Amino acid sequence: MRSLVSIAQWSRSTIERVLKLALEIKHEPARYRDALLDRTLVMLFEKPSLRTRVSFEAAMTQMGGHAIYYDLRDSPLGRGKESIEDTARVLGRYADLLMARLYRHEDIVRLAQHAGVPVINGLTNDEHPTQILADLLTILECKGRLAGLRLAYVGDGLNNVTHSLLLAAGRMGMHMRVGSPNDPAYRPDPAVLRRARIMARATGARIEVLDDARAAVRGADVVYTDSWMSYHIPEDQMEERRRRFLPYQVNAALMKHARRDAIFLHCLPATRGCEVTDDVIDGPASRVLQEAENRLHVHKAVMLYLLHPAASRL
Ligand code: CP
Ligand code: NVA
Repeated sequence: MRSLVSIAQWSRSTIERVLKLALEIKHEPARYRDALLDRTLVMLFEKPSLRTRVSFEAAMTQMGGHAIYYDLRDSPLGRGKESIEDTARVLGRYADLLMARLYRHEDIVRLAQHAGVPVINGLTNDEHPTQILADLLTILECKGRLAGLRLAYVGDGLNNVTHSLLLAAGRMGMHMRVGSPNDPAYRPDPAVLRRARIMARATGARIEVLDDARAAVRGADVVYTDSWMSYHIPEDQMEERRRRFLPYQVNAALMKHARRDAIFLHCLPATRGCEVTDDVIDGPASRVLQEAENRLHVHKAVMLYLLHPAASRL
């Protein structure tokens, strides 16, 4: 069964095909008006969402299908009355496709093992693959290529977006530097790093983790950051995190170390004044709204690919 639980599951050619399809859909959306006619997507949420929830639902509507939002707090699963396996098996009888935003990554793996229909990871504590596909599409649109580019990510390294970016960079041959405090609580998961480096060996990408934000950003084509307080981080860590991550804030002074034509990306939601300043996120290098819009086009392409693999060969 095809699924998108981790970006590492997808080969370079699959990612390229889906990005190409997303671009085609973006430029000629009307051609795909009935592409998912009468198909049902069930979207399971344990955490908040603006972009993922609304763009998946709009994507389904625009392709003739239907999306059901299901807050897991109201479910037998959320109340501890039903297992993930039974929830998955039942949903697979109603829906053509599932998308889930969950805390534990193991839970989406179990969902995918038992649903009998394709499952899409809409974010777990460990990974955020659909976001990274939209990021790759944005980079491709802005820079015309992926392989050989230099991507700098600064801030919270032990982060779902960072992890999926590392895996995608390794897969697609992009050099990536993570700048984050030298502390295992803020550094990428060593297992993810190992996996990204194994893929990087095959594509010629360099993957590095540095303490210094300026060194991480030096010469970068793309500068990326994310919230210091991801949805799953307890509020009582806020003060400590703000103190530790402040040297990694993306501000005008830090952007000066990147290439002159560097772009700035952020998956959003952003806490302005923390991981990024207004002058950068609203400034000429920022592509964050293009990036957010691309979620819509990429989600259409991902769903089409999972349900009709032949569509991505068009
Ligand atoms: N970037 C992203 O996934 O945003 P939401 O949390 O609003 O879905
Ligand atoms: N790392 C962030 C991404 C939000 C889209 C979080 O998990 O909250």
